[in-house]
Order: sequence, then C-alpha cells, then structure tokens
Amino acid sequence: MIPNLLFPTPVFIEQNAYGFNKDLQDAILKQYDKSAVNWQSKPNLQTQPEFTNFHKMVYQKTKYVLDELQYGYEDFKVTDMWANVLKPGEEHRPHTHSNNILSGVYYVATEKNSPGIIFSDPRPQAQVIKPKIIKRLMETSDMCEYTAQKDKLIIFPSWLTHFVPTNKSKNIRISISFNVMLRGMVGDSNVLQSAVYP
Ligand SMILES: [Fe+2]
Repeated sequence: MIPNLLFPTPVFIEQNAYGFNKDLQDAILKQYDKSAVNWQSKPNLQTQPEFTNFHKMVYQKTKYVLDELQYGYEDFKVTDMWANVLKPGEEHRPHTHSNNILSGVYYVATEKNSPGIIFSDPRPQAQVIKPKIIKRLMETSDMCEYTAQKDKLIIFPSWLTHFVPTNKSKNIRISISFNVMLRGMVGDSNVLQSAVYP
C-alpha cells in the first residue's frame, strides 16, 4: 500500500545559506548586553545597515518558500528581525509567532552541543492514542528537532509551536530570528475570504 501524508507541515532547511557569519556576529555582539537574561536585540535588524545583505538573503529565501507553496500574493515583507544570544543554562519556552505567515531562524554562532530547535505536532488529536514506538518515524513522531549549526537557515509556518531546550554547552549560541507577512490583498474576496494588509 502507498501511504499518503495528508496535511503536511512544510519546514524548509538550508545549510550554508549565507556564509558571512563573522560580520553578523560582530554586528550582534556590538549590541549585546551580557547582563541580560535571554538577550534579544531590537526587532528591527531588517532596517539596520549592517544587516542589509542578510535581509536580502532572507527576503529571497522566503520568496522561494512562498512560491514553492504556490501561494498567490501581492507583496510580502520581513516584519520583524532580531538577534538572540542564548547563554549556557538559558532556553526559549514553547511559542508561536502570531500575525505572520512565515518565520525563520538562522544560526550565526554555535558549537557541537548547542541546543537545536524543536517543533511539536500541531494536531492535539494525534495525541489521543499513543502506541509504544518501536522505531522512530516522521509519521508517528510528536516532536521533531533540528540541530543548530552555523550558517543553517530554517523557515517554517509562523503558527507552528517550537522551543529551544536548555543550552547545556559552555558557550553562547547566537541566532537571528525573523517573521514574514503578506502585504496587500490576502486571500480571495470572490470566496468571501480576504483582508487587506497595508
Ligand atoms: Fe520562535
């Protein structure tokens, strides 16, 4: 028999997505406040000159994803972009990124033991019956972890819950997160499902 994977959740991965990590790291560490817990930069990196080329890369990659998913849209925009520095012992609790269509993370500085990102199954009904797992399969997992590696880019639907487990390494882990939202007419007024996002 042939399995049909209905209602898949599209997560896009690219290793070696950008390459200029040292420049990004320097720009982020200039803003970094060591005394902060779970430090995050201002969410406007997309407007800062030092991140212009990185923003271009994110724009191109998210356009690729929107087009690959065959969405029709008038325009889109990177709405928020911010850096995260996760010190040893810190974590990011489960969350989503509301009011956007795509979100992503790019790893600027990691080491072997840096925590990755874990996505959890968005279908609560799928947890009702949980047989013993003999072998882990994508089809039956309720969580999926992607490792954090320097220069890796991950783009996912903004509604998909994710978290970062405790940083058990000895070093800080630096990443850049971003959100993307469609602009102009979203949806189709002919089927009474549309909104305009200026
Ligand atoms: Fe997030």
